[in-house]
Amino acid sequence: MKQYAIKGGNPLVGEVEIGGSKNAALPILAAAIMTDETVYIDNMPDVFDTNVLLDALTTIGVSIVRTGRHSVTINGGNIFSKQIEDDNIKKIRAAYYPVGALLGKYREAIVPLPGGCDIGCRAIDQHIKGFRALGAEVLIEHGYIKTRADRLVGTHIYMDCVSVGATINVMMAATLAEGTTIIENSAKEPHVVDVANFLNSCGAHIKGAGTDVIRIKGVKKLHGAEYTIIPDQIEAGTFMFAAAVTKGDLMVKNVIPKHLESITAKLIEIGCEVEEFDDCMRVVCSKTLKPTHVKTLPYPGFPTDMQPQIAVALGLGEGISIVTDTIFENRFKYVDELTRMGANIRVEGSTAIINGVKKYTGAGISAPDLRAGAALVTAALAAEGYTLLDEVQYIQRGYEDFHLKLKALGAQIELVEDQREFQKFKLKTG
Ligand code: EPZ
Repeated sequence: MKQYAIKGGNPLVGEVEIGGSKNAALPILAAAIMTDETVYIDNMPDVFDTNVLLDALTTIGVSIVRTGRHSVTINGGNIFSKQIEDDNIKKIRAAYYPVGALLGKYREAIVPLPGGCDIGCRAIDQHIKGFRALGAEVLIEHGYIKTRADRLVGTHIYMDCVSVGATINVMMAATLAEGTTIIENSAKEPHVVDVANFLNSCGAHIKGAGTDVIRIKGVKKLHGAEYTIIPDQIEAGTFMFAAAVTKGDLMVKNVIPKHLESITAKLIEIGCEVEEFDDCMRVVCSKTLKPTHVKTLPYPGFPTDMQPQIAVALGLGEGISIVTDTIFENRFKYVDELTRMGANIRVEGSTAIINGVKKYTGAGISAPDLRAGAALVTAALAAEGYTLLDEVQYIQRGYEDFHLKLKALGAQIELVEDQREFQKFKLKTG
């Protein structure tokens, strides 16, 4: 089992290139099968979740050709089954995206219920409500979402909560429905906009993505396109906070600064210097961080996917900070691990009360999920001494070459298999 061996103490300094957005890539890869023509996708992150989805799509006849590490051509012209049997797809949350894509294109989809990181209740009732509103029958049976429709007819859908997945899924199905669909209270995340832009480049008629009302005029069919996925806002934010935690100086390249506004605002508030350029951000941190209050909210609010990263930073700040996660109720599992490293944090319901400490100390810890895992790595990079972090496969779900990128910035981090390799790492870095 792979683990990260980390020796803390080095500030992160240098330039890091951000990859394509995982949470945009996943629905775009699924949406690419909605045309019989070939789609070329560029700036795709090479991470576990995108690879699992691509593998699952090949099992139903989608032709996938990897033209480079970050580019792929996808052709959904020879799909022979609307049922995905692949076992691995159950492990990822984005398993639900082929439902919207297949339902829209073929009026039928049978796909395993999604898994993903255990960060709280991850309902799909809004996806189901949207599909039903379009005229589909939806059943949950034997671990599958089964849906079919004679016709999909555009309608007015009011989402009961702001859901990224439901907005995108219903938008995909509605793209090939008859007439106009209006989704109210839709999610506004940059990846929702990216999927809409991708579908529009294939001939869809989607307006309003990025606002809370999306209007989709159904079209008969989609055509091929070439599309470049947006940069990953959360990967960028993670490195920006890694600079804050390690008192570093980082130039985070290939980003869209607008997508990072809530993250930048908090970094400035807690005492970092942030400089914005056209497509990069520089974050410098030289002082003890100031405390603050953070509440995660749908975009443009502070993202839940950045909650553990800011909490790790505030754990080293002066005084008391309060972090509330309003999106997922189980996203504080990393607190026990951070406590082993010396943090002083109390969790009450969906709120963490953080009493800043002077330093973290290295320990044997475990990544409970993707973003928490990445945040714990940043804690270990700032900590005194050695950390051995288990369950790094969670981090590999969403960060490409995470430890290699950190190493290039001066971090002492290595992927190790066992205690013997950890001892070797200690000798090398001691
Ligand atoms: C997406 O998950 C992301 N995953 C998550 O990123 C991210 O944390 C989340 O959006 C919020 O931004 C992917 O894009 C693959 P939601 P998703 O539907 O779509 C409730 C990461 O680390 N809800 O916006 O599953 C739900 O319980 C991952 O990259 C319903 O009640 O999130 C949650 O409280 C983790 N019914 C809230 O809405 C529904 O039908 C937001 O969920 C759907 C959601």
